[in-house]
Amino acid sequence: MRYTNIETALAGARALLQQKDIEQPRLDAEVLLAHVLGCSRAALYAGAHRRLEPGQLQHYNRLVQKRAQGHPVAYLVGHKEFMGLDFTVTPAVLIPRPDTELLVETAVHLLSKRAGGRPLMVDVGTGSGAIAVSTAHLVPTLRVLAVDISAPALEVAQKNARTHAVDDRVVFLKGSLLEPVMERLNGEPVDIIAANLPYVPSGDIPGLSREVRREPLLALDGGPDGLDLYRQLIPQAQKLIKPGGHLLLEIGPGQGETALNLLNNWQAKLYRDLGGRERLIAAEKR
Ligand SMILES: C[S@@+](CC[C@H](N)C(=O)[O-])C[C@H]1O[C@@H](n2cnc3c(N)ncnc32)[C@H](O)[C@@H]1O
Repeated sequence: MRYTNIETALAGARALLQQKDIEQPRLDAEVLLAHVLGCSRAALYAGAHRRLEPGQLQHYNRLVQKRAQGHPVAYLVGHKEFMGLDFTVTPAVLIPRPDTELLVETAVHLLSKRAGGRPLMVDVGTGSGAIAVSTAHLVPTLRVLAVDISAPALEVAQKNARTHAVDDRVVFLKGSLLEPVMERLNGEPVDIIAANLPYVPSGDIPGLSREVRREPLLALDGGPDGLDLYRQLIPQAQKLIKPGGHLLLEIGPGQGETALNLLNNWQAKLYRDLGGRERLIAAEKR
């Protein structure tokens, strides 16, 4: 009787994904099968001739078909690594990007220079909670207020805070930009405001890859030049941040000069990512 083993299942999936122009057919075929079998990718090679149960094969075929239609791998397996931590992701949240690790590293560096106390950070547009949760994980004295306009995103972020045991120090608030924070803080100044808000120019959305277009539009569209939400955020942040505190804004390539011009009352610096692309503005309040 014919049956499918790991090797033949992978070969079939690779061929289909390649035919559908998926960028990394081999890697994706392996990640999806490792997810179905609950093992590592290395274990797939060690057991290449292991027979798949009919239920496992059916589950795998379903995931491979979805991947072939452009569903991102992270949504299919339900998680994504960020700053070395495992984050739950669903289609309600943007999949955390390695590009955003520069913002977290900068926040941790700035917080490490502050003497004593229990610093306060705000993460605006928290999505999966990637920034809030990883920064709180790395800075054990940190308190974080994390805001999102999307209730389903906040549910995912809360789950991630529990998984990484920072839920006693990260408070999630629903609302737009810094409005819910202003209501809650009662005048206590903030050390750092971090924002990875939507910054894709509206006109660029149709040209994004089919994978990215499956992420929430609310997490992507930043208006005509991509900087609409930052224009609204900066005057709000000016009121909340203490002198010498910082505003960190993730931006996209080509937005550095315009973003710096929005911050001419601040001492602002542009950072590039490892690929040399404009990626982050760190602005100190004078
Ligand atoms: C680009 S995603 C970033 C998610 C996460 N911070 C990360 O780095 O992976 C932007 C997030 O901002 C949220 N958002 C959009 N408009 C907002 C607003 N006016 N106020 C608060 N959050 C907003 C979206 O729901 C989305 O979760």
